[in-house]
Amino acid sequence: MAKPKRRFICTECGGISHRWQGQCPDCSEWNTLEEEVAETAFSAKHHLATGGRRIQFEALDTPTTPLARSTTGLAEFDRALGGGIVPGSAILMGGEPGIGKSTLLLQAAAAIARSGKDAVYVSGEEATGQVRLRASRLGLADAPIRLASATSVRDILTTLGDGTPPALLVVDSIQTMHSDMIEGAPGTVSQVRASAFELIRYAKENGVALVLVGHVTKDGSIAGPRVLEHMVDVVMSFEGERSHQYRILRALKNRFGAVDEIGVFAMEGHGLAEVSNPSMLFLSGREEPLAGSAVFPALEGTRPVLVEIQALIVRLQSGATPRRAVVGWDSGRLAMLLAVLESRCGLNFSSAEVYLNVAGGYRLSDPAADLAVAAALVSALADKPLPLRAIWFGEVSLSGEIRPVSHANLRVKEAAKLGFDQACGPLLDSPPAGKMRYGGIGGLPGLVDRVMVSA
Ligand code: TYD
Ligand code: MG
Repeated sequence: MAKPKRRFICTECGGISHRWQGQCPDCSEWNTLEEEVAETAFSAKHHLATGGRRIQFEALDTPTTPLARSTTGLAEFDRALGGGIVPGSAILMGGEPGIGKSTLLLQAAAAIARSGKDAVYVSGEEATGQVRLRASRLGLADAPIRLASATSVRDILTTLGDGTPPALLVVDSIQTMHSDMIEGAPGTVSQVRASAFELIRYAKENGVALVLVGHVTKDGSIAGPRVLEHMVDVVMSFEGERSHQYRILRALKNRFGAVDEIGVFAMEGHGLAEVSNPSMLFLSGREEPLAGSAVFPALEGTRPVLVEIQALIVRLQSGATPRRAVVGWDSGRLAMLLAVLESRCGLNFSSAEVYLNVAGGYRLSDPAADLAVAAALVSALADKPLPLRAIWFGEVSLSGEIRPVSHANLRVKEAAKLGFDQACGPLLDSPPAGKMRYGGIGGLPGLVDRVMVSA
């Protein structure tokens, strides 16, 4: 028999190499390759065309029972999940340390337990005393959760296997779990994968909704290999700036629903409070028009959220390389927008430092933000404030055109409700109706003209 091959797996991207290297050949990260014990050496002589069990094929229209979702008791959590938690599904919850993952899941487990279902919370990171302390601070001490501190997957599954399976099983975190089926310390790629595999199999076989907490790496992906994301049904990310109060729960992958809805929470003294109407959250207390500030009506699923975009331009005297710093938006997109503004409008940012900030710790991913960012930049550069009660939205193309974006009506309607009276966006055949004044802009030069004559 052939000698078992050594394999090395990248902890960042899951890429496989057959020898150890300092740098992963797939994702170019350094020191991320870890050796994995090869389970079996495959032999070319065996082929699998005989000896198996026959499988049944089915037609796509075979009647199935509809997905039974159950509510977690936290409406914002349910919303982000696409309408509740599906029994027998596996959810991976990622997020930076201290963002509130354990708090959120403890609250969800408590809500489920209080509704009369069985919720199990296994912490591999904190002692039960610590979790109890938090629960009492959150006012959840009376919730009939089954709480344990454990890291051995075998212990957990042996214990759960004895009784009726719970409705919810929270494992906090998968990086602390250990499977004795394979070697290696907790947190290594093969351990994370093996532990997750066993837990997911238990969940699927017993109709248990499983939530695995996963740490994230510096670039924001869930630590451990990508394979973890493939193994689960739902990947959620809990985001926000730790220094800010607001947290956003977002599904990055969902086998049972759309991934465009978000859940919004505020971290308060007594835990995470749900924010059911987030449209005003990310506007700072704006009283007077300020140069460099523009309001953008972002769309999160079906809910518009108004966010303030702030730009600051600092002219440099010396020939030093100017900085570009972005918080809450894509820095590549900012570079592109600056280049388009320079080449299509003749503006000069090359000797100036550019700082861009999305207020309130919000992360923008909607491409319709381009026009609002451009408006903030031009306004900051010209030191001319934009009208206080105006919103800006539209996608900017490389040619400097303003392109239409989805749901212009919805965006405008929400802003009008909040007292805005002017909207600037792409040229539209039928501009949004209502009290709001709509100004269509064809291209970036038109934007510059508009900023120059504004308030
Ligand atoms: P935690 O849930 O432990 O984060 P994670 O599991 O993602 O690492 O949340 C920790 C932070 O939340 C901590 O820094 C303090 C803050 N917090 C509050 O502000 N209020 C509260 O009621 C609780 C429980 C935590
Ligand atoms: Mg935690």
